[in-house]
Amino acid sequence: MASISLKNIIKCYGSGKSATQVIHGVNAEIADGEFIVIVGPSGCGKSTLLRMVAGLEEVSGGEVCIGSRVVNDLEPADRDIAMVFQNYALYPHMSVFDNMAYGLKIAKVPKDEIKTRVDKAAKILELGGLLERKPRDMSGGQRQRVAMGRAIVRQPQVFLFDEPLSNLDAKLRAQTRLEIQKLHRELGITSLFVTHDQVEAMTLAQRMMVMNAGVMEQFGTPEEVYNRPASTFVASFIGSPPMNLLKSAPDGKSGLILGIRPEHLDISTSGWPLKVEAIELLGAERLVYATLNDERVIIRCDEHQPAPAIGSTIYAIPRADKVHHFDATTGKRIS
Ligand SMILES: Nc1ncnc2c1ncn2[C@@H]1O[C@H](COP(=O)(O)OP(=O)(O)OP(=O)(O)O)[C@@H](O)[C@H]1O
Ligand SMILES: [Mg+2]
Repeated sequence: MASISLKNIIKCYGSGKSATQVIHGVNAEIADGEFIVIVGPSGCGKSTLLRMVAGLEEVSGGEVCIGSRVVNDLEPADRDIAMVFQNYALYPHMSVFDNMAYGLKIAKVPKDEIKTRVDKAAKILELGGLLERKPRDMSGGQRQRVAMGRAIVRQPQVFLFDEPLSNLDAKLRAQTRLEIQKLHRELGITSLFVTHDQVEAMTLAQRMMVMNAGVMEQFGTPEEVYNRPASTFVASFIGSPPMNLLKSAPDGKSGLILGIRPEHLDISTSGWPLKVEAIELLGAERLVYATLNDERVIIRCDEHQPAPAIGSTIYAIPRADKVHHFDATTGKRIS
């Protein structure tokens, strides 16, 4: 296992006049054994960053270190990493066992050792009974576990995952998420996991990097990112429904954006006057969509609270210790 260090990582595609920079100086120190999630919207540079760590993409500036080695000029095969992709790309004509064993055979690992490693991985992933099956006779979730098994048997220093769960349906995704957590507890291998799904990020990460247009906006634990978002981008990207961001709150200050999460607004007999526009019942909770001076405000309430009438005016009070402030020009948090 190994630490990973990203030092002012820059990536440009193309050259000369047509060059475009897509990663703008990312810095991160990742400890040995940490599980890091890289999260952000489509096109923000998550895969590019991961592929530079893997060696599948050249680094345009800065240094990637795995352990104590600078790996910028090392081939992927020499970096001691294993990657799991969204498209698991198993060999269809090979059994599960052979799919997992293939890389080790190529690397001329002795047969007994291969069997030991594949059996161990199959046990961890609960694929023991399926080793003779062909991938086409398995479910998507099982195939994804085979793809993870293929990475595990390599016993790499680092696991790199690029949206490995996005081909699975919601239920299977939740289940596989738990399996990945368990896998990490058992093996403790340093992992970088890319996703655009903030729920996946919040539930899997020990620390998460929130990316926006090639810039790392925040790097912290899920609690830090949720409770103290570094910018309006992070505040609105992490959390569902997103944080309310208001330019015109009655107690707001000019030049500042006031942020308040939907669960931190309490309906009361006084406070902000809100016009109710829509209501959604989500089982245990109810979302009230309202407007305050033409700005959208969402309130998350308990299902037991009476639902306000659509078109009516209600009043809500933000919890004082849960109010965030951001600079209206830069979007940065003001502590
Ligand atoms: N080979 C390439 N040549 C030019 N631009 C590229 C190339 N590959 C990626 N890009 C651009 O780099 C940016 C980052 O792409 P990247 O694939 O890293 O995004 P991503 O965050 O992984 O998105 P997604 O969630 O859609 O997978 C995008 O604007 C993309 O268009
Ligand atoms: Mg991607």
